[in-house]
Amino acid sequence: MAGLWPSIVMAEPTAKDLYYQNCSLCHDEDGAGVMPGIPDLGGADGPLWKPNKQLLGAVINGVDRTDLPIAMPVRGGNVELSDSQLQLIINYMRREFGGKKEIYP
Ligand code: HEC
Repeated sequence: MAGLWPSIVMAEPTAKDLYYQNCSLCHDEDGAGVMPGIPDLGGADGPLWKPNKQLLGAVINGVDRTDLPIAMPVRGGNVELSDSQLQLIINYMRREFGGKKEIYP
């Protein structure tokens, strides 16, 4: 009776889903930040175009500059996110907010 039961496929969350679940709370839907203290990440000269390793490292380890009242939490506050999921989110952010066509600088 193959085909009687539709196979149940758990869809993998897309990069966009992951961004909205974990990051948009602070970075908003356009990367501009929801409040003062969260920098605008957008634009072709913005922080999203730091070298990839450096940027991924910042997202993995968090960023806590003393001159800003809010810190970027380790893995955006969700330690369940894998390095490759974080890389997917970074690619999404670059594509959506980065103002450049290509993904990698
Ligand atoms: C609690 C709020 C908060 C959440 C949630 C958050 N961020 Fe951030 N993020 C920040 C703040 C604040 C900064 C600026 C840190 C600084 O420059 O001191 C930042 C900076 C960044 C930067 C720039 C880093 C750099 O080197 O300049 C990237 C990229 C980033 N966040 C990605 C993410 C991703 C991806 C997620 C979700 C997985 C996420 N953030 C979740 C607050 C947040």
